[in-house]
Amino acid sequence: PGLDILAKRAGLLYFGTAIDNVVLNNTAYVSIAHNVSEFGQATPSNGQKWMYIEPQQNVFNYSMADAIMKPAKEAGQMRRCHTFAWHSQLPDWVNNGNWTKETLTAVLENHIKNEAQYFKDDCYAWDVVNEAFEDDGSLRNSIWLQVMGPEYIELAFKWARQYTGNGTRLYYNDYGIERVNNKSLAVAEMAKDFIARDIPIDGVGLQAHFTVGRAPTYDEVSAALTLFDDLKLETALTELDVRILLPDSPEKQELQAEVYTNATKACVDVAECVGVTVWDFWDPVSWVPESFPGYGNACLLDDDLQRKPAYYAIEKML
Ligand code: XIL
Repeated sequence: PGLDILAKRAGLLYFGTAIDNVVLNNTAYVSIAHNVSEFGQATPSNGQKWMYIEPQQNVFNYSMADAIMKPAKEAGQMRRCHTFAWHSQLPDWVNNGNWTKETLTAVLENHIKNEAQYFKDDCYAWDVVNEAFEDDGSLRNSIWLQVMGPEYIELAFKWARQYTGNGTRLYYNDYGIERVNNKSLAVAEMAKDFIARDIPIDGVGLQAHFTVGRAPTYDEVSAALTLFDDLKLETALTELDVRILLPDSPEKQELQAEVYTNATKACVDVAECVGVTVWDFWDPVSWVPESFPGYGNACLLDDDLQRKPAYYAIEKML
């Protein structure tokens, strides 16, 4: 029946996918990407990032984002929007600007204001701040931290609330927080502090970029999700993929299937976990080979768009 239909029957709000602009000319890809029975939710892989949205200061361009958001809406897919404040994929004018605390603060507010208002009510959720922590639980030394100080995070959440519709869930999103460790504990501490001080935060996204042989178990993912469940925050697996050290083999694909299923099942079983998004469903579009040389085949469908063991395993588990 399709993974989203099965996921909904299992109690999730959605099973979704990231969709990338570079393959929108491939009709076979596009028809699967916007098949609402398979993927009830879509996230633009790149189209809503700063370098594309505001390539020059105060010049906004929504064409890449629209190319994914509009067909997703027409197909009846929920949309997770990604992302406002991040250290990566920033345009040069942000990276190389000669900022003071005041000027960069105004730049961040203007960016969030424009993009949030443009997509007002179009997003089920926004990843308001992405990857702000280091593995040891300290804050990442980004331009935002350097110039604005730690306060940039709560300001981003306040502006996101101010400029989006009230129904939009505001998420903190990061990788490496799929186990209970220094990083996930630091995120939970931040969230707890935000709740205590009425800083608007609704959810935490666990990216879930995993590697065969080093991935967290069902129990580990469940425990990490429960950290946030205990704070009454919503959670989601926002960028699930499972990379394989090449060459691939049937054995590795079976292990990959287990990792996919364990993570998805952990979300199904933890009350506040609302859904799972795969970070693209097709191996040739995955970000993995470029970002992790020697690794690949991280997705549910192979080069020929055929379903891999991981697809069937999730289908069976759901
Ligand atoms: C990746 C995209 O998939 C690539 O196409 C792009 O070149 C780099 O970014 N964490 C995130 C995502 O939050 O935005 C990243 O997406 C993958 C890691």
